Amino acid sequence: MSRIIGINGSPRINWNCAQALDKALEGAAAAGAEVFRHDLYRLSYTGCRSCFACKRIGSPSFGKCSVQDDLKPVLDDILRADGLILSSPIYFGSDPGVVRSFCERLWFPSHTYSTDGTVAYDRHLTVGLIYTMNVPTDTYYSRFLETEKGMFEEMVGPTQILSITDTLQFEDYSKYASAAFDPDHKRQHHDQVFSNDLERAYEFGKALLG
Ligand SMILES: Cc1cc2nc3c(=O)[nH]c(=O)nc-3n(C[C@H](O)[C@H](O)[C@H](O)COP(=O)(O)O)c2cc1C
Repeated sequence: MSRIIGINGSPRINWNCAQALDKALEGAAAAGAEVFRHDLYRLSYTGCRSCFACKRIGSPSFGKCSVQDDLKPVLDDILRADGLILSSPIYFGSDPGVVRSFCERLWFPSHTYSTDGTVAYDRHLTVGLIYTMNVPTDTYYSRFLETEKGMFEEMVGPTQILSITDTLQFEDYSKYASAAFDPDHKRQHHDQVFSNDLERAYEFGKALLG
């Protein structure tokens, strides 16, 4: 049975990213995969510490992250799996720092500074990236999304992206400084479009491993 690891990259454990991730994992499970979810913000870890143990020629740590913290078992879990689904919010046009630190720890052990593009992972892993964001279209972030896809493809394996836009950020817009948003539009979009986004996430997860 194939295994898919889901990673929630939002600090909120049941909001947009988490709901989309759960739907994608539900889809993957319907397609026959065994699925697991990890929440990055529940873990205590850092980004890459530049120890280079993953590059040490002839060492058992070659191609593996040696930093022993809460992320290590998650990385090990991912490298034993067939698929990875990372669901992350956009923060300031990019990944949240916690997600970026996760990416550094996942990507760097695979990178071998080779001249021919050889990587340490065997690239059996298929990756699905879900990004949720406030803006109405992901074209604002097309360069970031392309770079992210490129890095995952180079270091980890074939990668697809699902964007979910115009998300609801708070339950009650009247309680928070948010003059730039039309609360009625946000609520309506959430009620009418987000359920369809969750369906897209389900299909995305279902199709991930082909
Ligand atoms: C610190 C911070 C920065 C954000 N920056 C952006 C941004 O640059 N562009 C955007 O479209 N949304 C931005 N957002 C909104 C979130 O990406 C969006 O609401 C997302 O769906 C939140 O996911 P969640 O509900 O799972 O936490 C930001 C939110 C926070 C908290």
